[in-house]
Amino acid sequence: MANTILVGAQWGDEGKGKIIDVLTEQSDIVVRTQGGNNAGHTVFVSGQKYVLHLVPSGILRPGKLCVIGNGVVIDPLGLVEEIEGLRRLGVKVKSTNLMISETAHVVFPYHRLLDEQREVRKGRHKIGTTKRGIGPAYGDKAARTGLRMIDLVNPARFEALLKLRVRENNEVLRAFGARPLSFSSLLKSYQAAAKSLKPFVANTVIHLHEAGRRGASILFEGAQGTFLDIDHGTYPFVTSSNTTAGGACTGSGVPPHRMDRVVGVVKAYTTRVGEGPLPTENKEIADMLHGMGREFGATTGRPRRCGWFDSVATHQATMVNGIDDLAVTNLDGLDTLEKIQVCVAYRVAGKRWTHLPNDIDLLARCQPIYREFPGWRQSTSEVREWKQLPAKAREYLKAIADLTEAKLSLVSIGPGREQTIVPG
Ligand code: IMP
Repeated sequence: MANTILVGAQWGDEGKGKIIDVLTEQSDIVVRTQGGNNAGHTVFVSGQKYVLHLVPSGILRPGKLCVIGNGVVIDPLGLVEEIEGLRRLGVKVKSTNLMISETAHVVFPYHRLLDEQREVRKGRHKIGTTKRGIGPAYGDKAARTGLRMIDLVNPARFEALLKLRVRENNEVLRAFGARPLSFSSLLKSYQAAAKSLKPFVANTVIHLHEAGRRGASILFEGAQGTFLDIDHGTYPFVTSSNTTAGGACTGSGVPPHRMDRVVGVVKAYTTRVGEGPLPTENKEIADMLHGMGREFGATTGRPRRCGWFDSVATHQATMVNGIDDLAVTNLDGLDTLEKIQVCVAYRVAGKRWTHLPNDIDLLARCQPIYREFPGWRQSTSEVREWKQLPAKAREYLKAIADLTEAKLSLVSIGPGREQTIVPG
C-alpha cells in the first residue's frame, strides 16, 4: 500500500482505531503524528478489547513498526503504563516494533493542573477538555519552553531544565489557588519513566526516510477529528494540534509529495464530546444510541453528544484534508430507524450556508436543512458482502459519500476486523 494519511472527518471518535487496524495489514509502518493521550483508539481483536492512547494501533499486528512522531505530546508515565498494559495482554512491545521521536514534547503534571484550572475559570464557557494537559503542553512547545523526549532521557539536562519549569509553573499554580508541585517527587517519577522509555527514543525522521527509500509503505494515523483542528476546527472548542492531513507531514517529517492518498473516516451519524456547536445534535438519536450502550468516550467515559450525519461538515473535511477515500463506520447504529436525516446545508442569518461559518456564535445558531432517507430496519452487523447490505443502506452510504465528495471505500458494521465491507 502506498503512503496513506488517515484522518477523522468529523469531531473525533469516528472509529478510526478499527479502520487503522484494517489498513495496517497492508502497511509496514504506522505513525502517530499529533495529539497526546487525549485520544483513545479502541480495537477488538478476537474478542479482546484494546484501548490505545499513545501507541499506534499497529502494535497489535506482528511485524509492523509503530512510530510516535515528533508532533505528538507524550505523558511518559501514561505511556509506560500503556506499554505495560499491552504487555500484560501478551502484545510484544520492543524497540524493534516501537520508536518514539526524540523531538516529541513531554507532558508534565503542571500541564494537567493548568488545563484543569483554566477550565474551572472558564465556567460555563469551558471547552470540555480531556484534562490531559494537552493545551498547556502544546502552549509550552509554541512558547519554546517545552521539554522534549531527548531532554527526558538526558538525566543531567533534564533535572536542570525541569527545575526551572517547575519553579515557574508553581508560581502560576499558586496564582490560580492550586497546590504547587514537589520538584523531587516529580523528578523521581519522570526519571523512572525515562529509564523505561529510553530504548525506544530515536531520530524517527531519519528512520522514516530510510524506510521510505527502501520502499516501506507508511500509514499516518490521525487522532481526534477535522473540526477539533487548532486551525480548521470550531475554535476555541478544539484540541491544540493540527488534526487535519497537513499535521501528518509536520508531525512526522515526511513531506507532502511523499503522500499518496488520504482516507477520511466518518461515522454514519455525528458525535462530539466536550463543548462547542454541533449543528445536527439531536436528543432522540442520542437517547437511542446511548440506550444501545454506544457512544461513551474511550478516554473519559463521557457520553458523547449525538446527531444526524452532517454533510456540510464532511464536505468541508474533504476540502481541507484532500480526502480521496471514505470509510464509514457504525452503520449498524442506524439499523433500527424508520427514517434517517442527513444535513445538506445550514440556514442562519437569512442565508443558506454550504460551509461552516467561522463565527462560532453564528455556527451555534445554524439550523440544519435535512434530506430524509428511508431506514432499512434490519440488522447489518452480520453482513460481510456489499451486495448483502439492504438496498436502502447502500443508497444511504452512496448518498453520504456523494455529498462528502469522496469515494466510498470501506464500511464498518461492528468493532471486529471481520465486520468490514469493501463496496463492490
Ligand atoms: P483536549 O484535547 O483534551 O484539550 O480537549 C479539547 C477538545 O477536544 C474537547 O472537546 C475534547 O473532548 C476533544 N477531544 C480531545 N481528544 C479527543 C478524542 O480523541 N476524541 C474526541 N474528542 C476529543
